[in-house]
Amino acid sequence: MARRISLSRAARLVGVKRGTLQQKIRAGELTTFEGEIVLSDLLHAYPNAQIEDSSMLERVEQIIEQATFINPDKIARKPDNVALTARIMSLGERLAQQQRLIDRYQRLTRQLEAQIDQLAGDPGALDRLKKWLEEATAGITEDGDIIDQSFVNETFLRVMSAQATVIPSGHEFFVEGAESVLEAGLRGGLALNYGCSNGNCGLCKIRVVSGEVRKMKHHDYVLTEAEKGLGYVLGCCNTAISDVVLEADEAQSTSDIPLQKIPIRIRKIENPDQQVLIVSTRTPRTSRLRFLAGQRATLAIDKVGSGFYPIASCPCDDMNLQFHIALDQRDPVAGYLAQSAKVNDMLNLEGPVGSFVLDENSPYPLVFIAEGIGFASIKGLIEHAMALDVAEKMVLFWISGDRDNHYLNNLCRAWNDALDNFEYVPLEMCATGNLQDAIMARLQPDDPANFDYYVCAGNELLAAMEQFVESREIPKNQLHCEAI
Ligand code: FES
Repeated sequence: MARRISLSRAARLVGVKRGTLQQKIRAGELTTFEGEIVLSDLLHAYPNAQIEDSSMLERVEQIIEQATFINPDKIARKPDNVALTARIMSLGERLAQQQRLIDRYQRLTRQLEAQIDQLAGDPGALDRLKKWLEEATAGITEDGDIIDQSFVNETFLRVMSAQATVIPSGHEFFVEGAESVLEAGLRGGLALNYGCSNGNCGLCKIRVVSGEVRKMKHHDYVLTEAEKGLGYVLGCCNTAISDVVLEADEAQSTSDIPLQKIPIRIRKIENPDQQVLIVSTRTPRTSRLRFLAGQRATLAIDKVGSGFYPIASCPCDDMNLQFHIALDQRDPVAGYLAQSAKVNDMLNLEGPVGSFVLDENSPYPLVFIAEGIGFASIKGLIEHAMALDVAEKMVLFWISGDRDNHYLNNLCRAWNDALDNFEYVPLEMCATGNLQDAIMARLQPDDPANFDYYVCAGNELLAAMEQFVESREIPKNQLHCEAI
C-alpha cells in the first residue's frame, strides 16, 4: 500500500508551511486521501526535498530552531534518552510489520514466477507476461530506492517528534524532545485549558484516546482510579512517545478564559522610535498568563498609576509577554517606563480582556491591517496564526505616518522573507481610497470576499474598512475591528 503521511508531517518533511501544501491541493497539484498525502506524490511535487533532506540532523536542528523562535529554552526540547528509546521501540515495531509485508510480497512474486515457468511450453502470452513481470519488478526496486530514502527521513523526524491530534477540534501539533504535551500544544497555538503548569491544579487533564504518553515529572494533583482507567493524564506532566490522539478542553471564546492577576517582571525596555516603547516582561513559571492573541491587559505600577495595553505577543509563549506602549505624556505608566523603570522591576498585570481574536473556525486566508501602534494587537494575531499554521495566505498592511514609523519593520520584512505564505505591505499614511486599491491589487486574482479582515486602527480607517466590506458584499462577520 502507498505510504501516506499527514499534511503537517508532509509540510515538515519538505520544509514548507501547511498553507503552501493546501494551495497545491486546491490547485489540483497534490491529492489527499482522508486528509493524508501519499509520500511518492509529495516527492514528485517537491523533487528537491531529497537533496534538502540529505542531512537530517541539520533539518532537526532547523525544526528545533523554529520551535524555539518563541521559547528560547532549547535544552528542554532535546529528547531525553527514555523518550527517545520509547519512540525508537515503537518505530521498530512498525518497521518490523512493514518488513513482514515486504517479505510476503517477495514470496508471492517468486511463486508467480514459478507458476509462469511451469507454463513455459506456451511461447505466446505467458512469455510476454513474464517479461512484463520482470520489468515491473525492476521498476518497483527503482521507485523503492526513492521512497525508502524519504521513508528513512520521515522516520527520523518521527523519532525526534511525536504528532498530537486533538479531538474534537482536529487541531494538530508536534511534541518535540521531552517537552510536555501542554507546552507543545501551547507552542502550537492551541488554547488548551490549564492553570499552574506544575502538576498542582489538575486543570490540564486530557484523555489519551490512542498512542502512548509517558509521565516526565512528579505531580501533587491526584487523579482518581476511574480517571486513570479512562486514560486521563495531566498534560503539563506528560510527554508523547508516539503519535497520539488526545481529547482535551480548548477555549472556544474569550469567555472561557478567566481574569487573572499576575505580578510580572520587566526583562527589557526598548525605544525603537520617539513614539513607542516595547516592554518585554516575564511571568513567574508557575503563574503564567492564559490569554488569546489580540487581547489586552491592565498594567499597574504602585504609586504611579495604571494603563490598558494590547498584548503584542502570542499565547503560545505564555511566560514572555510583550507590550507596545505609545509615549503619550498623559499616560503616567508610559512616562515611568520611559524614564525611571529598570530591568527586574515588577508590574501588576490584570487580564486578559477583549474580543479582538482570531476566528479559528473560519476557512479563509487572512488580511491584517494595522495603523501605527495598532500593530501591537496585529502582531499577536499574526504570531498566533503562524503557530497554528492553518492559514493558506496572510497579508499584512501596516499604515504609518511616515516610513520610519513602522517601528518593527525588520521583523515584518523577516516574516515576508522567511514565510512563503506571508506578504508584508508597508504603507505611508494614505487616503482610504488608496488603501482599498492597495488591498485589491494585492489580493488579485482572488475574490476579496474569500478573506477574513483583522483591522486595528483609528476610527476613520475602521469606518473606511466597513465601507469596503459593504461595497464588495463581503459578509460582515469576516471583518474584525479594534479601535486604537
Ligand atoms: S496545569 Fe495545573 S496540573 Fe497541569
